[in-house]
Amino acid sequence: MSFTDHANNPFASLSPAVWRASTVVFDTFEDFVARKARQPDGYSYGITGTPTARGLEQRIATLENARHCVVTPSGQSALMTAVMGFVRGGDHLLVSDSCYGALKSFASNWLAKMGVDVEFYPPTIDAGIEQLIKPNTKMICLEAPGTVTMEMQDIQVITAIARQYGVMTMMDNTWASPLYFRPLDHGVDLSIEAATKLFGGHSDLLMGSISMNDSGYYDILRETQSILGQATSPEDCFLVQRGLETFELRLTQQSRTALQVAQWLEAQPQVQQVLFPALPSHPGHEIWRKQFTGNGCLFSIILQPASEAAFGAFFNALQHLPIGASWGGTHSLIAYYPASQQQSRAYSPTDQPIVRLAIGLEDPAWLIEDLQRALDGYAAFLG
Ligand SMILES: Cc1ncc(COP(=O)(O)O)c(C=O)c1O
Repeated sequence: MSFTDHANNPFASLSPAVWRASTVVFDTFEDFVARKARQPDGYSYGITGTPTARGLEQRIATLENARHCVVTPSGQSALMTAVMGFVRGGDHLLVSDSCYGALKSFASNWLAKMGVDVEFYPPTIDAGIEQLIKPNTKMICLEAPGTVTMEMQDIQVITAIARQYGVMTMMDNTWASPLYFRPLDHGVDLSIEAATKLFGGHSDLLMGSISMNDSGYYDILRETQSILGQATSPEDCFLVQRGLETFELRLTQQSRTALQVAQWLEAQPQVQQVLFPALPSHPGHEIWRKQFTGNGCLFSIILQPASEAAFGAFFNALQHLPIGASWGGTHSLIAYYPASQQQSRAYSPTDQPIVRLAIGLEDPAWLIEDLQRALDGYAAFLG
């Protein structure tokens, strides 16, 4: 819609209108009876969104090079809705062991108990996925790089095999965002973003999106959204549209700072390993270089082994960096993932504690100064 398209934008505003509605009314009896036929794009009830949601969905679809998009109330709800739309009891579901934790919990604590054959696979399995496909395999869940441990997956190799066997693929693409990787262009069926992170960009809302090309999948997901009650707030849709205005600028700057901070950390004696695919030292660097066009703002580090008290000293020495588990906003964040979390996984690349850094828009020197303080606090505990 153009700003001067007065028929659709009579106020000629630069920003989208916030349409609030639970109910849609109909001109005639016939219209009311036929209301379901208005889906998946049209409006028959507020649960599947108002024009504010539809405007955002179109904008995300353009970013993803997708024909369709459905927004949902959180990133996790997008992941769950994508699976619930297609997977039923008796189906086999393959989930990367480094997928977002709540998706894994949903698969093992709910789906497996509802008769779905859930199997976690090694994130770096790539062509080996073929050996795991069964006649009843319905979907493969991907995420690259993986949550916290940052393993890269060869998306093109996995999707080519999945297509050969008629298996659907969905990918959590939040880390790269469509700016640096467009899953649908690489054969993925459903591209999921936690819009909470980079799209929203200001740590003040939760939202998710599912983008796709297949119109049949779109019908199913719009219906699934409705059946599961996944209504998205029009105000939040407005805020994500506003976040998207600066998305590219923010991510470009945040990615630059992230690389600078990661390179600095890699040179520090207290740091054993930096888990960031953009660094040549990362085992997935070649896949990242081949398939992705940018590095994003989120990476993890493994420190030299020390007691939990050393991690306490590290975190409590920080004066600027807020401790928190999310990412993608303008403020940097730092989070701790204890060894037990990695040890409880079937295929973790490490059994050590992990510190994860989400880089915001601050001056890199200011971040490095704070991290130096934390590393000094940690060093006191090393032999
Ligand atoms: C990679 C990734 N996917 C999905 C999610 C879930 O998003 P939300 O918090 O909006 O449910 C997160 C949130 O931490 C995430 O980091």
